[in-house]
Amino acid sequence: MRIIHATDYDDMSKRAASYILERFKDIHTIGLATGGTPKGLYEQLIPFLQKQDLTNMHTVNLDEYVGLAPEHPNSYRQVMNKLLFNEVDIPLANTHLPNGVASDLEEECKRYEALIHFLGVDLQILGIGENGHIGFNEPGVDKNSKTHIVKLTEETREANSRYFKQREDVPTHAITMGIQTILASKEIVLLASGEHKAQAIYDMVHLEPNPTCPASFLKHHKNVTIIVDTKASVKLTG
Ligand code: F6R
Repeated sequence: MRIIHATDYDDMSKRAASYILERFKDIHTIGLATGGTPKGLYEQLIPFLQKQDLTNMHTVNLDEYVGLAPEHPNSYRQVMNKLLFNEVDIPLANTHLPNGVASDLEEECKRYEALIHFLGVDLQILGIGENGHIGFNEPGVDKNSKTHIVKLTEETREANSRYFKQREDVPTHAITMGIQTILASKEIVLLASGEHKAQAIYDMVHLEPNPTCPASFLKHHKNVTIIVDTKASVKLTG
């Protein structure tokens, strides 16, 4: 794992953007995350992406809530449309997320997993949960997991309730790429900002790969870069 230290959220976003832009010509499929962490990165990338021909580019998102239709304002589809896809000239048909309202969710997981393998992810962007989750792979996840349905922990529902009118509206389940799915991408870039992520970052870096901290499984991958700001790395640096 390579660690790039940033001063704050803004610096983290700028460093992540330059990291990606240096590799841009080799990225045909990019794996994306939602949440607060990559927002600044997407803002940084937009002016550059607006000048590119994105006709042949594909994006695959890590996850989607079960039970929220793509039109629902809190669905990750809508979040991604607002944050990025509506701002650049990428065919929406090339932007992929799991369908959280598919009539057969198990089949949907298989379809999404097959699509990801067909496209092949060149670079996957990740955030990290306070409990060490990546995607919605919560503590206890199997390291061999593929795209699957997951029951969200109460901690994760609480953390995500800031985007919903009330806590009860946060879905209880999601579809997420599994640990194996994530590890199959050629390169991984994980971003973290803020003191609330410091313990998860410490565990990811220092623990042997194990399910109590799903991000620790990233040690099984040869090309992982972590871009952390001062607050998120406070436990690493002491
Ligand atoms: C989002 C995702 C999650 C988030 C994580 C951190 O697609 O898969 O793993 O990256 O929950 O969320 P934020 O960035 O909001 O702190």
